[in-house]
Amino acid sequence: MESILVAGGAGYVGSHACKALAAAGYRPVTLDNLVTGHADAVKWGPLVEADIADVETVRRIAREYEITTAMHFAARSLVGESVSKPDLYYENNVVGTLRLVEALSAEGLKHLVFSSTAAVYGAAEGELIAEDTPARPINPYGETKLAIERALGWIGPAKGFSWCALRYFNAAGADPDGEIGERHDPETHLIPNLVRATLGAGPGLKVFGDDYPTPDGSCVRDYVHVVDLVEAHIKALDWLKAGGASRPFNLGTGKGLSVLEVIAAAERALGRRPPYEIVGRRAGDPPRLVADPAAAMAAFGWTPTRSDPDTLVASVAAFEAASAA
Ligand SMILES: NC(=O)c1ccc[n+]([C@@H]2O[C@H](COP(=O)([O-])OP(=O)(O)OC[C@H]3O[C@@H](n4cnc5c(N)ncnc54)[C@H](O)[C@@H]3O)[C@@H](O)[C@H]2O)c1
Repeated sequence: MESILVAGGAGYVGSHACKALAAAGYRPVTLDNLVTGHADAVKWGPLVEADIADVETVRRIAREYEITTAMHFAARSLVGESVSKPDLYYENNVVGTLRLVEALSAEGLKHLVFSSTAAVYGAAEGELIAEDTPARPINPYGETKLAIERALGWIGPAKGFSWCALRYFNAAGADPDGEIGERHDPETHLIPNLVRATLGAGPGLKVFGDDYPTPDGSCVRDYVHVVDLVEAHIKALDWLKAGGASRPFNLGTGKGLSVLEVIAAAERALGRRPPYEIVGRRAGDPPRLVADPAAAMAAFGWTPTRSDPDTLVASVAAFEAASAA
């Protein structure tokens, strides 16, 4: 069985990737310092509790598990925190990743799948955002991800590994079996906060702005189910193993959902009216961010099939119910 190193495998997307890797016949070996992750989310392979910057440990586990392929989810990813603590973000996301890549490539890394983000596009305008849209981040979080994408463009060929940077739009949803889900603290994402508010397990939701130039005035985003997302990671691995070119790919559905549309889906799924209030716009929120996912669809044959709002909300509600039980 081939082992795949999963940096950040104790986190939200990484834990779903471990489950998908195990289902695809791989052994996921999680490397995580648990700064935001959860040891009990690591269920499908070993957990090595260490920092990605710990070169000695990374080299040791790369040798022990004969790692030639890695998925890298480990990062700090709170936009507001990145503005107040940019040095922490550069240290963790840039310096840490460089150390991780140095250690893995010293042990024979061949393929790397890197979690990037739509935040590299900043406040890009237009109906759909394709990969050739100029990358102009508007916060340190997006800058650190773009810095690594650019670094990989040079380090990959120099060290002899191929890579994909997967630019997720809004990851959402939970494992349909209710085994794992989104457990950020603080939780800044719409759907878990909406579900918790509707179930009486969290404060009422604030909708930031209803006067944007969008059909109902609330912000429009591209929500992609985490299971669709991790399926794309497995396909990206296959693409790299088959000799596919190193490059960034958007992961989104190409269909925008407004905050008010997601709230309506929660009311349908949960049979209760979500408590929410409209408040003023939040600084730095672009009206609309929707992916053009055509490149990933064409290269990997990837099609998101679970990313409609009702399926997203229902999967989060099932996870919240399973966690509360
Ligand atoms: N969730 C989203 O909507 C979203 C959107 C775009 C991009 N991303 C990116 O996807 C990745 C995963 O996001 P997530 O929501 O699962 O985050 P998460 O916080 O749940 O998971 C990140 C994991 O990385 C670990 N980690 C962080 N720094 C580490 C370090 N220095 N050494 C070892 N482990 C470390 C954390 O403990 C955690 O388990 C991140 O890189 C994030 O930037 C997420």
